[in-house]
Amino acid sequence: MTVKSSNITAVPHRVEREERWRANGHKGGVLWFTGLSGSGKTTLAFELEQKLFAKGYQVYVLDGDNVRHGLSGDLGFSPEDRIENIRRIGEVAALFAEAGYLVISAFISPYRDDRRLARQATDEGFHEVYLSANLATCEGRDAKGLYAKAHAGEIPDFTGVSAPYEAPEQADLEIDTGKLSVDESMALLHDYVAKAFHLSGDG
Ligand SMILES: Nc1ncnc2c1ncn2[C@@H]1O[C@H](COP(=O)(O)OP(=O)(O)OP(=O)(O)O)[C@@H](O)[C@H]1O
Ligand SMILES: [Mg+2]
Repeated sequence: MTVKSSNITAVPHRVEREERWRANGHKGGVLWFTGLSGSGKTTLAFELEQKLFAKGYQVYVLDGDNVRHGLSGDLGFSPEDRIENIRRIGEVAALFAEAGYLVISAFISPYRDDRRLARQATDEGFHEVYLSANLATCEGRDAKGLYAKAHAGEIPDFTGVSAPYEAPEQADLEIDTGKLSVDESMALLHDYVAKAFHLSGDG
């Protein structure tokens, strides 16, 4: 992105990225969940956070609804505000990852371009995870009653109903949470993390 300020100079850290990784016993990076409302992002993110934390991981979830209370409290759901919301989260996730954390982000993040920018912010440690339950499944669940409200015209710009969702073309991991159970989905995530965040050279 274009940076507005002038007269700014980046200062290098004296702790190397790999030193942080060694101290934590795993690489830092971002597991970026994307999928429709009701596809299971929050369910799987917090379950995975708890499991990985118990195994000693430095792990933290950034979740849609929580972030909208603080960091993005000034934003709505118009296309421009969604872009800015994901831009902020992408940058925050990148900072956490640089600090050595395994970040799990749980946002619908409906636009491909926004996810590409988030990937660029973190670079090589970014993993896109597509929770691909289809619209009919998610509407059928309607855990928060939001689809019913969206169909009644009470929520404008609702993804899948009155706003687009651009599915990933090449996700690093796809889990059809419409077909698999929470436990089966967790097993796939767990295997993926064990490989992708494994420190080489530690056996
Ligand atoms: N394989 C699965 N993975 C995750 N959730 C599942 C799965 N199978 C069924 N579910 C159910 O689907 C619902 C998913 O709701 P959840 O709030 O996690 O979705 P979300 O993607 O975070 O939605 P939103 O974008 O509105 O925050 C839960 O009720 C969960 O129990
Ligand atoms: Mg959620």
